[in-house]
Amino acid sequence: MDRTRLRKGTTAETPTLCTRRGTRLRRRDAADNTTFDFADNCANCHAGDDFTADRFKNIGLYNSRDLSDAGRFEITKDSSHLGHFRIPGLRNVAVTAPYMHNGMFGSLREVLDYYNHPDKVVQGAIHRDLSLSTPLNLSEQEITDIEAFLMALTDDQFIQNKN
Ligand code: HEC
Repeated sequence: MDRTRLRKGTTAETPTLCTRRGTRLRRRDAADNTTFDFADNCANCHAGDDFTADRFKNIGLYNSRDLSDAGRFEITKDSSHLGHFRIPGLRNVAVTAPYMHNGMFGSLREVLDYYNHPDKVVQGAIHRDLSLSTPLNLSEQEITDIEAFLMALTDDQFIQNKN
């Protein structure tokens, strides 16, 4: 993976990482062939062209104590919606910090550290999605690669046109 190109990546370049079947991010460390698969671990929620399925899910940021925003439940009063928040799209995510509904993570690195081991960051999460029940056990290299991948979803043209 050519880091320089990834960091400067535009939407036009990202298809090298995004296939029609999903988004596959492979670890390119010659010393180790393990593969982190965005499709398996993230795209069940962050799906489609903009990496959002426009649905609501609980990634474990509600514990009714220090994290007391119950999310979608506040509107529907349906207890199955406790801790559910809208799945945000990931296009241009590198430039939209802070992250999550409450801005609790200041960087993508912090977001990835969270997904890597949610229980280390939030104690007593209520109804966290089962797909996040096992720590990902990512290596440093894998975290760096996913971070580079997320940065590559930045569309320079979009940013320039914004103002
Ligand atoms: C169970 C569904 C689900 C899975 C699996 C999931 N996400 Fe998320 N993601 C969400 C939801 C919901 C939010 C918003 C939570 C909030 O606002 O509190 C979110 C937020 C984010 C954000 C912050 C975006 C922003 O603008 O605030 C990033 C970055 C992110 N996810 C990346 C990932 C990556 C990388 C993976 C795989 C390791 C992943 N997600 C797996 C549902 C999921």
